[in-house]
Amino acid sequence: MTAKYNFEANDFSRRDALTLAGAASFAFATSHYGLSSAFAGLSQREKALHIRLPDQLATQTPKIEGKLPNNLRGTYYKNGPALRQGFKRTYPHSFDGDGFIQAFRFDGQTVQHQGQFVHTEKYNAESKAGDYFVETFSHKWAGSPPARSADETNTANTNIVHHGNRLMALWEAGSAWQVDPDNLDSMTKLVWHDDLAMAPFSAHPRIDDDGSLWNFGQVQWSQEMILYHINPQGKLHKYKLLDMPNTSMIHDFAITEKSIILMLPPLTWELDKAKNNASFLNAHEWHENRPVEILVINKNDLSVVRRHQLPNAFHFHIGGAFETVDGTIELDLYHYKNADIVFNLYLNNDEKDHSQSPTRPQHSRVTLSPNIYDGKIERIHNMSNEFPHMAPSSNSHRSQHGWSIGLDMETGLFRYALGVNLETGKVDRYDYGADCMLEEHIFVADQDRPVINGVTQGWLIGLHLDVQQSQTKLAVLDAYDLAAGPQAVVTLPYGLPPGLHGNFVMAS
Ligand SMILES: [Fe+2]
Repeated sequence: MTAKYNFEANDFSRRDALTLAGAASFAFATSHYGLSSAFAGLSQREKALHIRLPDQLATQTPKIEGKLPNNLRGTYYKNGPALRQGFKRTYPHSFDGDGFIQAFRFDGQTVQHQGQFVHTEKYNAESKAGDYFVETFSHKWAGSPPARSADETNTANTNIVHHGNRLMALWEAGSAWQVDPDNLDSMTKLVWHDDLAMAPFSAHPRIDDDGSLWNFGQVQWSQEMILYHINPQGKLHKYKLLDMPNTSMIHDFAITEKSIILMLPPLTWELDKAKNNASFLNAHEWHENRPVEILVINKNDLSVVRRHQLPNAFHFHIGGAFETVDGTIELDLYHYKNADIVFNLYLNNDEKDHSQSPTRPQHSRVTLSPNIYDGKIERIHNMSNEFPHMAPSSNSHRSQHGWSIGLDMETGLFRYALGVNLETGKVDRYDYGADCMLEEHIFVADQDRPVINGVTQGWLIGLHLDVQQSQTKLAVLDAYDLAAGPQAVVTLPYGLPPGLHGNFVMAS
């Protein structure tokens, strides 16, 4: 199987293969900056997108307003695309940028911050050249050599996950990059198995109750998917290749105690269009008359045990999932009527009335009964939100609470931190104001406080860019009283381009 991930060794042309790699990368792109740029007002968006960063941001101690919780000890690692300082060329869409890792290190009283780009093959090659030249999903630089593998275009810019004593910067269409947790230096590209060299390893792995990790990688040009199960020590336990035709841009998935759930959007990447020199975006085709297919996979043998469908729709992120003893699966996700967000990515900035945007995501609950093919979907609340995050909890319990960031539909910016009671739909909200661009907010458990009635106590932390002041700030809120506002705000002396996903690693 090794040859499948090396374009030169395959009968598929290198140019076609790069296009497919780009198509894969487009999935992460639209799911993050796509949201922001599709909704955002142009001037504010442009301010954020044109921030360029040096190779490293030196460790410094930013100012703090309010008081940090004494028990908040550990490091918040964050990843996201950024443009490079010193390069003449630019990308018109910032999700092409190279992965920039930040670390916010909390000791209970102060915070230290540092940042560094991931030194991928792409990053190093362009550093040597002094400018961008590697082809990406939205760019075809004149004279650029074709890539020989997806990893030559791997920007490692979507998520950063700590597992098996490794810190991993994750992309979607290529390998995970191991990063030194202490100084953020890039270490090595991970190879889980000789047969899986350069295979895609997606950006939204799921940690199971036993500490093992599940993930997938979609190989679009061969219409297959790799399922990975990594043991708690970070070694590959098992993997399986599944046929995965007629779908593209699978970005997230879910696990329950027994099952893996895959949602397959009715969106396909069309080889004929790509061969006709279509852009990655234009090589995709939305099928408005096709349902969303859902696969339920047995975690033990990785076999498909059930199939379901939902009416035509599009989804990026899933919050959490739970499976009852009778096999009924419930999950919450962010539901789009269609994939217009993908196809309108470059057009929506002219829209004035975002409340009518067809790309408005709806936080919804899906119920999949074991003997009923059609799934049921119902809206949980009336806010429009994305970037879900859950408290760590056992797969044998139904999550009661979830967090996300909410859209101001007039400006199109992520403006609100949201806490949602998933049982009642009640929303707890903090309004950052119209001039802030929020990034993902994550739950951090307070390990010194007891779990009360199954509810883990903790904080919600997240970044936002104050567009007027051009400063990036980190807020710490009581996870169950967001409306009270931040307990502490950490202000960096500069603004950073809004990033994507991150995770908190508790101090040992
Ligand atoms: Fe994501």
